[in-house]
Amino acid sequence: MTDSYEANLAPAAAAVESADVAPRHDQAGPTADGRKVFIKTYGCQMNVYDSERMSDALTRDGYQPAMSAEEADLVLINTCHIREKAAEKVYSQLGRLDRLKSARRKAGSDLMVAVTGCVAQAEGREIARRAPVVDVVIGPQTYHRLPEALARARQGEKVVATDFPVDDKFAALPAAPAPAIRRRGVTAFLTVQEGCDKFCTFCVVPYTRGAEVSRPVAEIVKEAERLAAAGVREITLLGQNVNAWHGTGADGREWGLGELLWRLSEIGGIDRLRYTTSHPRDMDDGLIAAHRDLAALMPYLHLPVQSGSDRILKAMNRRHTAADYLRLVKRIRSANPDIALSGDFIVGFPGETEADFEATLQLIDTVKYAQAYFFKYSPRPGTPGAELEDQVPEAVKSERLERLKTLLTRQQRAFAASLVGRQIDLLLEKPGREPGQLIGRSPWLQPVIVDAKHGEIGDIVNVRITHTGPNSLFAD
Ligand code: 5AD
Ligand code: SF4
Repeated sequence: MTDSYEANLAPAAAAVESADVAPRHDQAGPTADGRKVFIKTYGCQMNVYDSERMSDALTRDGYQPAMSAEEADLVLINTCHIREKAAEKVYSQLGRLDRLKSARRKAGSDLMVAVTGCVAQAEGREIARRAPVVDVVIGPQTYHRLPEALARARQGEKVVATDFPVDDKFAALPAAPAPAIRRRGVTAFLTVQEGCDKFCTFCVVPYTRGAEVSRPVAEIVKEAERLAAAGVREITLLGQNVNAWHGTGADGREWGLGELLWRLSEIGGIDRLRYTTSHPRDMDDGLIAAHRDLAALMPYLHLPVQSGSDRILKAMNRRHTAADYLRLVKRIRSANPDIALSGDFIVGFPGETEADFEATLQLIDTVKYAQAYFFKYSPRPGTPGAELEDQVPEAVKSERLERLKTLLTRQQRAFAASLVGRQIDLLLEKPGREPGQLIGRSPWLQPVIVDAKHGEIGDIVNVRITHTGPNSLFAD
């Protein structure tokens, strides 16, 4: 449970503060000329995926991994613009890099700095103006052009590339070789959809990531097959609006995400599937049926509602009411009673009254969430919400956030406690903090700690939950 995505380092759902993604020494590169890159990632899992793809492209270009900015020739900051705090972090990082670059120059060497991701897209040239340390600014739709941009920057040009080109960036990026995939773990992200046409009035995504685009079935299947061949056993399909994914299936029919999940489950070695993040309006019958019938699809659904007040939902342009959401939850749970729900909530959207906020508490009380993320409303420049009068004072936002946190934490603990005694399949993912321990994820995405004698990383073992810890479960 966290009051911001930035505090939640979860590999398979929600979002992460930062993940340092470095290319691997074993990735093929035509000219391993000794340059080193350090990649710092902020924001959602889609950024983690993007950083991995950029890392693959840079490795092919001859870059080696660096463990810190200090030992790198190139520092790449993959940014998030969803809330103000996330964007501000970028500028404080750039201040630090500015000092590092000056010290390098005094010593007769150099440091290149590239800013990618949603802050790059939103601020473009403004970043290069405010932070002259930056050599390359590249948006999320143009990062396949990163090697070319770096080559130009090396000639002394400031490169700002934030257009929305028509070429398929996914097709243009190199695939990671098997050892590199495997080293990233037995679970993997796979972006299947990008962008958003919903235009919720608080959100920058439609401006930074552009219009909704679905990747074609064949391309997704090929990437999933490559992941499986490298030893990945669980794939999380990603998209800002992942359940809006659609495409033409192998049978020539129009597929939704449900049909895609069925197709991916046929790939040998892929035992578990997840997807995130979904919009309530795009939960179609095929996807709900998959939660009933497809064993590989984990019983966990991140389905943000944002508010429980119809007045606020309308002002947010969510295009559903609280009752619509509750009806949907009922349909999903009748298809699969075992499903755990997770949500996003915003407190202090402009005009939110105490009664509106209490409607949110009421909705949470009815749904009973297994996990949740909650945020104070942060006005984002260029979004309609930022222009609204009646912005809620900071102190009121803080007080509401605390109340939300108390309720959601209680629900999260109750859900975890309800699992004690249950027998579950656990995919062992990595060593635990203590020697002799391994960590996996429950079907409901909680970290589960077991004794290492139970199996090896990559095994799916049947275990019984014995007790709960503050943020994890223990099993035997
Ligand atoms: N202020 C606060 N939270 C926001 N989110 C998106 N935009 C904002 C904003 N301007 C939250 C929403 C969304 C999650 C990814 O971030 O809850 O679902
Ligand atoms: Fe943002 Fe709304 Fe689109 Fe989600 S559905 S990405 S909150 S505009």
